Amino acid sequence: MKRVLITGGTSGMGLSATKLFLEKGWKVIVVDINKEKGNKLIKELKEKGFNEVYFCKCDVSKDEDVKALFNYTMDILGGIDSIINNAGIWTGGMLHETKEDAWDKIFDVDVKSIYLTSKYFIPYMIENGGGSIVNTASVSGMYGDYDMAAYNAAKGAVVNLVKAMALDYGKYNIRVNNVCPSACKTPMFLANPKEVINEFNNKNPLKRICTPLEVAKAMYFLASDESSSCNGINLEITGGLNIHTGQPVQ
Ligand SMILES: NC(=O)c1ccc[n+]([C@@H]2O[C@H](COP(=O)([O-])OP(=O)(O)OC[C@H]3O[C@@H](n4cnc5c(N)ncnc54)[C@H](O)[C@@H]3O)[C@@H](O)[C@H]2O)c1
Repeated sequence: MKRVLITGGTSGMGLSATKLFLEKGWKVIVVDINKEKGNKLIKELKEKGFNEVYFCKCDVSKDEDVKALFNYTMDILGGIDSIINNAGIWTGGMLHETKEDAWDKIFDVDVKSIYLTSKYFIPYMIENGGGSIVNTASVSGMYGDYDMAAYNAAKGAVVNLVKAMALDYGKYNIRVNNVCPSACKTPMFLANPKEVINEFNNKNPLKRICTPLEVAKAMYFLASDESSSCNGINLEITGGLNIHTGQPVQ
């Protein structure tokens, strides 16, 4: 049985990924800062008959927490095959309006977390024949948005980091890829007012935003051997939102 850890695994895309990897027969460590949600989820999943699922409370932006996560993973699973670096937060606003602590926090949670899981888990993967890593970036890391400077910058860092990681770790049989969703029906996005959600649905060529399961399927593809030659890609999951020239209909 393959082993995966999924950060932000109790909500939204991470929750869908947790369920999908379990259905595919993987052992899963769900990682989240929210202990209550984590414990509740494990209870529900065990009641549904999934036994190989574990929860580790961890703030992925904190070195000591990620170190403890590594030790927990080795104790419980004896190793790891795949990491889904999915935990993330969002902040809005133009750059000059962004508070310094909000800027620092988004870089800590959305970017530094990938450095920290790499720091602790990649040496294990190098010594044990490889693995796969999937980061949740965003289409907002590939292009700009209005009023989202810090988020654009943080996800932009992830969009380029994947290339450096893919180049450095390919020789160790560690593949590193990103999923880049646009707006997705998760608690993070559904916190927006109804009119905003409707506008996102209408602007999309598919006339709807993507679902967490659609993103989870892409995570699974990139984490598993199904994508054995994909390395360093930013897989856009947008329904075609971002392919338009911007020109009006003639
Ligand atoms: N929802 C969208 O429209 C959208 C679009 C593109 C990319 N994303 C990205 O997808 C990822 C998942 O987002 P989601 O929409 O499923 O969000 P969500 O808010 O539903 O879930 C995020 C999870 O991460 C956890 N988390 C937050 N900070 C953490 C920390 N410091 N340590 C550990 N866990 C932490 C939260 O408790 C939560 O369970 C994020 O990286 C987000 O930036 C979201």
